[in-house]
Order: sequence, then structure tokens, then C-alpha cells
Amino acid sequence: MDEQATTRTKARYNRLAAIYDLQEAVLERLAFSHWRERLWSRVEGKRVLEVGVGTGKNLPYYPEKARTVAVDLSDKMMAQAKRRAQRLGVKADLVLMDAQRLAFADSVFDTAVGTFVFCSVPDAVAGLRELGRAVKPGGRIILLEHVRVNKPVIGRLMDLLDPLVVRMMGPHINRVTTENVKNAGLNIESIEELAAGGLVKMIVAGTQGDQVDAPSEDPDGTSLR
Ligand SMILES: C[S@@+](CC[C@H](N)C(=O)[O-])C[C@H]1O[C@@H](n2cnc3c(N)ncnc32)[C@H](O)[C@@H]1O
Repeated sequence: MDEQATTRTKARYNRLAAIYDLQEAVLERLAFSHWRERLWSRVEGKRVLEVGVGTGKNLPYYPEKARTVAVDLSDKMMAQAKRRAQRLGVKADLVLMDAQRLAFADSVFDTAVGTFVFCSVPDAVAGLRELGRAVKPGGRIILLEHVRVNKPVIGRLMDLLDPLVVRMMGPHINRVTTENVKNAGLNIESIEELAAGGLVKMIVAGTQGDQVDAPSEDPDGTSLR
């Protein structure tokens, strides 16, 4: 585990926490909120895990009949999530925790969710492997993620701009999340492209079953990100 990268990620989100909702307000209203609703309509079971809860934008969609545990690395983001949960009257267990080393036993959750998180988790494959461990056999991992666009010029541009964007805004913009999910030993059940060019995807994966044909975001890449 890259401890320094994890510390840097936490510090970045602690810095961003106060302005995070404002920074995303327009996109949230136009697109993200609809995609969140779509994702949560697919969540099943009584035990649900959300990793990287952030300021708690998914709280309004938590299933009423489930017990949801939500974790995040950043105490400042988590403080916002706690305030939002209180304001909305949503009951959930909000806990500071690193997705790369979840403090849960194996096979505890029916569904695990992450929205715009594996662009930021330093070792995305380790985090995804942890989700696979924490969900029950037959359970699902549902992700909403922006990823590297698989087009020669745009993809390369995203690679070039990535270090700058990470420093200024927090997330990586060139993550190959489909590859990362596969490399975490998860089986992709479906991928839905939500934004043009496959920039945003809803990825549904499980620990069992068949892998669907899921093209990489960077088929010519030599290293995984
Ligand atoms: C771009 S924000 C997304 C927040 C929220 N999921 C949303 O949809 O608005 C990414 C979040 O992931 C959290 N995060 C990054 N690395 C993490 C890790 N290793 N473990 C837990 N949370 C992490 C950050 O602190 C931040 O709150």
C-alpha cells in the first residue's frame, strides 16, 4: 500500500470538503443526481456498504429497509456527510475507514456501492478487491465512475492533464476502472455508458458468475492505473 499517496488523498479531500458540493452543484443537478437514482434502484439486500461517501450525496437514495454503512478516508468530508444525514433524518453508520483495508469481516454485505470514488482511491485494485471480500457470495458491487476515454487523442490528453487535475481537484481523470475491476478478481455483469464516449460508466460486478465482454478504457496501455 502506498501510505504517502493515501495521506495525500486524505489531505486533498480534507482541503476540498468545504467547497466540494458547490464545485459540483451544476453537474449534480443536471446529471449526477439522475445517475445516482438509477444506481440505487439496483441495490438489493439488507446490508449495504458505501465506500467513499464524501459529503453524503447518496444519502437521500439509501434503501429504507437496509442497514447501510458508509465509510470515507477524509474526516472533513465525513463531517459533511454526518451533517447531511442529520439534516435529512437518514439513519446510517458513518465511519472513517480506508477502502483499501476495510475493517469488516468477509462476506458481510449484500451490495457495495462506490460513486466517483475509484478515481481517487490510490490503489484502486486493492480497494475493489476489498469490496469483493466484504460482499457475500452472489452479492454485487455497483460503481458509478468517470474513466479514461478510449479515444486516441482524448485519452492521451487525459493522461497528460491527469497530474494537474489530481493536484487541483482530487480525482484522477484517466483511471482504467473496467480493467481495475477485472484485476481485482471481480466478474463484470454489465456496463452502462452514461455519458458520451464512455466518460462515465455504471459498472455492476459480482464475485461469481460469468464475465461479460468489457472493453478496456486503454487497450494499448502498458500499465494499469
Ligand atoms: C470524488 S469524491 C466522491 C464522493 C461521493 N461518493 C460522491 O459521489 O459525491 C471521492 C471520495 O472518496 C474518498 N476516498 C478516496 N480514497 C479513499 C479511500 N482509500 N478510502 C475511503 N474513501 C476514499 C474521498 O475522501 C472522497 O470523499
